[in-house]
Amino acid sequence: LPSHFVLSTGAKIPSVALGVWRAEKDQVGEAVKVALKAGYRHIDGAWIYRNEQEVGQALKESGVPRDQVWLTSKASLWNTFHAPEDVEPTLDESLSYLGTDYLDLYIIHWPVAFYKDGTKYDRDLTADPYPTWQKLEEMVAKGKVKNIGVSNFNLRRMQNLTANPLKVKPVVNQVELNYWNPQPELLKWSQDNGIVLQAYSPLGSSEQVKETLSVPVIKDIASEMGITPAQVIISWHIQRGTIVLPKSVHPSRVEENFKVAALPKEAFDRLENAATSHPPQRVFNPSKNWGLDFDVFDDTPL
Ligand code: A2P
Repeated sequence: LPSHFVLSTGAKIPSVALGVWRAEKDQVGEAVKVALKAGYRHIDGAWIYRNEQEVGQALKESGVPRDQVWLTSKASLWNTFHAPEDVEPTLDESLSYLGTDYLDLYIIHWPVAFYKDGTKYDRDLTADPYPTWQKLEEMVAKGKVKNIGVSNFNLRRMQNLTANPLKVKPVVNQVELNYWNPQPELLKWSQDNGIVLQAYSPLGSSEQVKETLSVPVIKDIASEMGITPAQVIISWHIQRGTIVLPKSVHPSRVEENFKVAALPKEAFDRLENAATSHPPQRVFNPSKNWGLDFDVFDDTPL
């Protein structure tokens, strides 16, 4: 399986990252160190995860040079910082937390812009992220970020954004991708348009992981290949052409998740067919959690 994917900018991004969402402050540093030792060279973080300082510290202590690790942040680009004038100051904040002067990848975390007090969403910036995007393009020109991308954008939002005269194209779209929600149409469109998908919650959201690991087709392939169900799933994601971001704070799982193996074509097809032949199911519903009067993932034109 490829250890890297090549982005439209020519940058080589490692295909497996340690995800640190919901990794507690007192556990995340150790997980980062174990991951770097196991061979990971890609950490996927975010400002809102509130553990960037610990991630930066662990990176420093690991002795692995900064330029050998791919560092992604959705950093300060939380929903309350979409206003163009808020982008750079909060990016600087994340850079200082992480102890670095550039990010390999900077991502708009959600296609939802809140006003700064967090109570109401800004309808204009939510419908049209281009003003925020132009600020990100400036950050690339300044050298503070090498690549820019988006997260949680569905097809119509990708199409809306890329219809603008972009100076820098989004290199990735980070979305929930797993057995329950494999999003084949978005994957196809992204591949046709030179955008790599990144799979968050690749084993299913944390509430579903147990269930995912005991799906019969996944268990069968695991025993046929002599690997674990988690390894089957992570390998399947890479084989679909997506970057995988498994989160774990347990050393043995961090190590397990990095050992990938190509599935034989027949096994890959069996898993792909099983994943895409039930109705898609998403656990986290941001519209409901944030009290929005629209569905973030509604695919009808704006
Ligand atoms: P843990 O960190 O305790 O290992 P998320 O949806 O937030 O990415 O969560 C992934 C979940 O899957 C976490 O609860 C993580 O728990 C668990 N997990 C990660 N890797 C494995 C694995 N190889 N086997 C079983 N559970 C795993």
